[in-house]
Formats: sequence, C-alpha cells, structure tokens
Amino acid sequence: MQSQKLKKLIAIFFVLFFFSACTKDLVVPDPPAVPIKPAPGQISYAGAIQPIFTAKCVSCHGAGQNAPVLAAGSSYMSLKTINGMIDTDVPANSNLYKKMFTGGSMASHCTVADADSVLRWITEGANNN
Ligand code: HEC
Repeated sequence: MQSQKLKKLIAIFFVLFFFSACTKDLVVPDPPAVPIKPAPGQISYAGAIQPIFTAKCVSCHGAGQNAPVLAAGSSYMSLKTINGMIDTDVPANSNLYKKMFTGGSMASHCTVADADSVLRWITEGANNN
C-alpha cells in the first residue's frame, strides 16, 4: 500500500516535471504593435515620421528591397525588429538616426529636420502612434 502511493507520487512528479520542462521552451511573442494615439505635443509616427519614409525612402526601401522596409503598414515592425535600428535607451545611438543624420549614408536622401524628427520620435519612446 505504502509503495503503491509512492509510485503514484513519483509518476505525478514526472508528469509535472515533463510539462514544466515544455513550458520553459515556449517563447511568448511580443504583443502585436497596435497603433496608439500620440499624447498632446508628442510627435506622431503615422502623422510625421511615416510621411518622410513614404516620400523619400520607399523607392529603395519597399517590401523585398533594402532593409529596413519603410513602406506604410510594414515600417514600424521592420524598424522594431531589426537589432540596433532603434535604441530608446540612447536615442542618438539608433542606427536609423545615425544613417539619416549629417554624415550618415542616408543623409543625402533626407533633411536635417527629418533626422531631428526621427530622433525626437525615438526619444519620446518610439511608439506606433
Ligand atoms: C537610392 C536608394 C535609397 C534611398 C532613397 C534610401 N536608401 Fe536607405 N539604403 C539603401 C541601400 C542600398 C542600403 C544598404 C547599404 C547601406 O547601408 O548603405 C540602405 C541602408 C539603409 C539603412 C541601414 C540598414 C542597416 O542594416 O544598417 C537605413 C537605416 C536606411 N537605409 C534608412 C533610409 C532612410 C530613413 C531613407 C529615407 C530618408 C533611405 N534609407 C533612403 C538605399 C536607399
């Protein structure tokens, strides 16, 4: 009787162990990037940043062209998922900004004001707003 109980207990332990080992391997994906409204006075991604990309970058950064994809609807996820493209801890260190800033390899395609807007947007948290 006693050993029967022990066997059951060991069996339950192994089942629990097995399942807990499985859940550890699961990767929880980030929640989808749902557009949010910019706070008053904040720069809007959809209203101020995407128009720069659409007018000046998409000819070379459309879907299937050079990374990052900067086409409307895809650009936010593309920028967020490429490592180093956006650095909200040290905004001026963001690759996107460094390429657009004076001396960057993309600076000839945009103005200093465009680069400044991007820096401000990153400084404010790089929201999909
Ligand atoms: C005439 C074509 C062309 C235009 C216009 C253009 N790009 Fe690029 N871009 C490229 C090419 C080609 C590369 C890859 C080679 C390189 O890094 O220079 C690139 C690379 C980049 C990278 C670096 C990617 C990486 O992995 O490091 C960023 C960021 C970028 N572009 C942003 C922009 C932005 C923002 C604009 C608009 C202001 C823009 N580009 C306009 C052709 C273009």
